[in-house]
Amino acid sequence: MNLVLLGPPGAGKGTQAARIARTFALAHLSSGDILRAEVRGGSDLGRQAQSFMNAGTLVPDGLILDMMAVHMGTPGASGGFLLDGFPRTVAQAEGLDRKIGLLGRRVDHVIHLVVPDGELESRLTGRRSCPACNAVFHVANNPPKQADVCDQCGTMLVQRPDDQAAVVRTRLATYHELTGPLVTYYRGKGVLADVDGSQAPDRVTAAIEAICAPRP
Ligand code: AP5
Repeated sequence: MNLVLLGPPGAGKGTQAARIARTFALAHLSSGDILRAEVRGGSDLGRQAQSFMNAGTLVPDGLILDMMAVHMGTPGASGGFLLDGFPRTVAQAEGLDRKIGLLGRRVDHVIHLVVPDGELESRLTGRRSCPACNAVFHVANNPPKQADVCDQCGTMLVQRPDDQAAVVRTRLATYHELTGPLVTYYRGKGVLADVDGSQAPDRVTAAIEAICAPRP
């Protein structure tokens, strides 16, 4: 099974992707996490991507498509993958269709997490992220057991540079302009399901699992 998690910044894609990938034994491929690892590693791609990410705008489609093709082609992804943050433009979605079509695969479900913009800003400005294992917390809604320390691996949590309020507003505007059209794109293909992402995380997980569960 191949899944896409679609939704605005802060909708809970990363939170849900970790759970859903575990349940269905899928490779979790987060374009944002992969890009942040490239930035930390100082690669050419990381250097090219960093200014776009810090500004809250999109990294060029060609760079993203090449990067994701490499990750989708690894042996770990051969049993199915869950794409988190990719595709993000119609050109990326068309590129994805072409690339996985060549492998005889397709996108089975697109989960569209719907959350009002007003809630997203407070989710993002209060988020704390683990730079080592990518776990996410929230200072009020989902605090770690020990302040600023990752529950899963003990690393000090950080606030992402793009989680400052001004950058969050640019990310939301970018989402509505460039990623919003993917809702129509995937609805037209009959694979999109809307999920209310403003519910408690466990309820969101249950709704996604019900959509993706194999049919008898
Ligand atoms: P990326 O890392 O993909 O960021 P994003 O899409 O903006 O998504 P986020 O990671 O911010 O949010 P999320 O939906 O995963 O929410 P989370 O689960 O953490 O991309 C970063 C940048 O990289 C982009 O701006 C761009 O520059 C570049 N990039 C990446 N992919 C690209 C692409 N394909 N093309 C071009 N450029 C690309 O949750 C957020 C917070 O809310 C957390 O604190 C969490 O604890 C809390 N929370 C989660 N669920 C709930 C809930 N149900 N109720 C209450 N709180 C909740």
